[in-house]
Amino acid sequence: MAVYQERATLISNETVADGLLIARVHSPQIASQCQPAQFVHVRCGDGIDPLLLRPFSMLTVDREAGTLDILYQVVGRGTELLKNRRVGDEILQLGPLGKTFAVPPNPGNLLLVGGGIGAAPLVFLAETVIPKGYSVTLLSGARTAARHLPAEHVPSAVEYVLATDDGTAGYHGPVTDLIADYFLWSDAVYICGPWPMLTAIDAAYQARVWGWNSKKPIQVSLENQMGCAMGVCLGCVVTTPRGFQRVCRDGPVFALRDLHTEIVSRPKLTGSPDR
Ligand SMILES: Cc1cc2nc3c(=O)[nH]c(=O)nc-3n(C[C@H](O)[C@H](O)[C@H](O)COP(=O)(O)OP(=O)(O)OC[C@H]3O[C@@H](n4cnc5c(N)ncnc54)[C@H](O)[C@@H]3O)c2cc1C
Ligand code: FES
Repeated sequence: MAVYQERATLISNETVADGLLIARVHSPQIASQCQPAQFVHVRCGDGIDPLLLRPFSMLTVDREAGTLDILYQVVGRGTELLKNRRVGDEILQLGPLGKTFAVPPNPGNLLLVGGGIGAAPLVFLAETVIPKGYSVTLLSGARTAARHLPAEHVPSAVEYVLATDDGTAGYHGPVTDLIADYFLWSDAVYICGPWPMLTAIDAAYQARVWGWNSKKPIQVSLENQMGCAMGVCLGCVVTTPRGFQRVCRDGPVFALRDLHTEIVSRPKLTGSPDR
C-alpha cells in the first residue's frame, strides 16, 4: 500500500477531556487509504524540534471531506508542541503506516478493550464495522472520569463501558476486570493500551481466567516509542515466536499470544490504564 507524505492543514485542535485533545487535519491522500490501527507519523512542531516525528493512530476518518482526527494525550515535548499548533497551520505527516486489524468475515460480536488514548484505533474500528452489522462493546479504562474520551466521540451503536481507578465513572477498578463479563459473548477481541494493562491482560489470558477458546482471535495494537516508523532503524522491535518484529512495519497489530515473551520480559510495570 502506498505511503504518502502530506502537508496536512490543521482544521481544529480542541481539548475534549483532561489532558486529551483531538486534532482534525485535512489530509486527503492519507484519509482516503487509512484503516483502523494504522497510524500517521507526525511532525509535531514547526521546525525540526523535536527531530523525530511522532506516531498517532486515527480516531476517525471522513473520506469525503478528506479529514482525519487524532486523539492525543500531552505527555512530552512533541505533544506539547502539537497542542500549541493553530488552526490553518501545516502539519507534515507520513501515512498510512503499519497494518490494520483482522476482522472475522461474518458479522458477529466484537469486544474492544482500551486504556486511555488506546481507545482511538478501537473507535475507528467500531466506526468501520458497525455499518456492516457487527455488534461492538468498548471497555475503556482511565485514571479518573475526566480522562475518558467523552461518549459523543464514540459511535452511538457501541456499548461504551467505563472503568476508572478512582471510581468517579463506571466500574471502580481496572478495566481488565470487566473482560470476564464479555469474553464468552465475543467472537474476537481487540486491545490497545499501555504496557501495565497488557501485562494484566496477558496474565489473565495465560491463567485462562475468562474461559478458554484457543480459536478466538485476540489482537493487540501496540503503542511503542518509535524512531523512523519505516522499518529501518529497528528502534521499535518486540520479541515474538517468529523472532524480532518491527512494530512500525510488522505491527502495530499482533496476536496477544505472540506478545507473551515480550510482555513478561519487560521490567515489572504498574500504573494507570491511561499511561
Ligand atoms: C502505532 C502508535 C499509535 C499511537 N497512537 C497514539 C494516539 O492515538 N494518541 C496518543 O496520544 N498517542 C499515541 N501514541 C503514542 C505517542 O506516539 C506518544 O505519546 C508520543 O510519541 C509522545 O511524544 P512526546 O514528544 O510528547 O513525548 P516524549 O517527550 O517522547 O515522551 C514523554 C514521556 O512519555 C513517554 N513515552 C513516549 N512515547 C511513549 C509511548 N509510545 N508509550 C509509552 N510512553 C511513551 C516517554 O518515555 C517519556 O517519559 C501512539 C504510538 C504508536 C507507536
Ligand atoms: S521505528 Fe524504525 S524500525 Fe520501527
